[in-house]
Amino acid sequence: MNILLIGSGGREHALAWRLSQSPSCEKLFASPGNPGIAECAECVAIDLADHGAVAAFCAEKGVGFVIVGPEAPLVEGLGDSLRAAGIKVFGPNANAAILEGSKGFVKDLCAREDIPTAAYARHNDKAAALADLPRFGLPVVIKADGLAAGKGVIIAETESEAREAIEHMFGGGFGDAGAEVVIEEFMTGEEVSFFAISDGTNVVPFGSAQDHKRVGDGDTGPNTGGMGAYSPAPVFTTALEAEVMERIIQPTVRAMARDGRPYSGVFFAGLMLTPQGPKLIEYNCRFGDPECQVLMMRFQGDLVELLLAAATDGGLSKAARPNLSDDYALTVVMAANGYPGTPEKGGTIAFKNVGAARIFHAGTAMNDGQLVANGGRVLNVTAIGATVTEAQASAYAAVDAIDFPTGFCRRDIGWREVAREKTGH
Ligand code: AMP
Ligand code: GLY
Repeated sequence: MNILLIGSGGREHALAWRLSQSPSCEKLFASPGNPGIAECAECVAIDLADHGAVAAFCAEKGVGFVIVGPEAPLVEGLGDSLRAAGIKVFGPNANAAILEGSKGFVKDLCAREDIPTAAYARHNDKAAALADLPRFGLPVVIKADGLAAGKGVIIAETESEAREAIEHMFGGGFGDAGAEVVIEEFMTGEEVSFFAISDGTNVVPFGSAQDHKRVGDGDTGPNTGGMGAYSPAPVFTTALEAEVMERIIQPTVRAMARDGRPYSGVFFAGLMLTPQGPKLIEYNCRFGDPECQVLMMRFQGDLVELLLAAATDGGLSKAARPNLSDDYALTVVMAANGYPGTPEKGGTIAFKNVGAARIFHAGTAMNDGQLVANGGRVLNVTAIGATVTEAQASAYAAVDAIDFPTGFCRRDIGWREVAREKTGH
């Protein structure tokens, strides 16, 4: 079968790497792809905003299956358009991708289905939002309802910060995404990323990971898309996984199907392990980046078969359950100086001996035969180990074998788990 993968980041390189190993993958295309993806797929330029052009490409190249990496094309209905053209798609239709596209939608769904999450209020009027603030206490979380490239969440420590955030959002600071604002109770606990794959009716767990959102060591500095991750997250025990499947994921799948919005694709649930138990922070309708990189390192089996089953009505009832190895995988993001502000472009990258580590490309480009940085997050240096400590050591040994003078990385990815492994609890 010929397959088209949409996207150009480290997440998509990891997907392309596993997809290309599947016996049922005859030819893999990626659009737009990147120089790393080009090692396992043919990268093609398609105007992804033109859904007709994507469908025409599939018809011309005999592509029967499209896997969508990022959220924006799904929220914009690429899944709907391709399904209408008779092409199978991994990723939800727009009316289900709303789980990522509207935070307010998810909060209302949680309230209706009794899914544990932070207390909240939705507002489309600034004065009403400001008047509602005091009952949430401090800190308080202010969110733009729509997609804001991961930047639409403000944790306000003071009332004036909270008021400023509300003013900024209603003032158009996040464009249309801020036309509606969600105010949320601040939850405490450890955060976990959990993944599950659904065909619209059936849903199976796909493992856990922990990301490191802040740019600096010790979780300091501004938020980023994620500076590194490891999988599994041992704090997310099998008992917690069972609880989350039963109390959060399955009720969501049932409600979406009942409401005429069947969700097929991957659920990326951001969870807070609070003293009262696991609560949903948010849903994403795609794999995490860099969480996907560590999940793909552990995934055993035929990825095309699994994703195709999810893209088929009821297909997961007949498919093998996802099998992830017992090893730990850890990935370190190498970013370009300046990230998460304006990253320096064009810095050269050269690899020495990176050992058994796997380098997934994110923001890279080829410039006259030279690999260069072409984005904020540039490389994902990914390794496996019997413990997080071991995986971390191999990943950093590989980082040290990469010559990228205009780049930087955190030196403490996995710190929570390395500390627990050292003390034994
Ligand atoms: P989101 O974009 O919704 O994932 O939010 C970004 C980050 O903000 C999350 O990863 C959490 O660290 C934090 N966050 C979001 N909502 C809450 C909440 N209600 N309580 C505490 N932290 C939150
Ligand atoms: N790593 C977090 C995300 O993909 O949103």
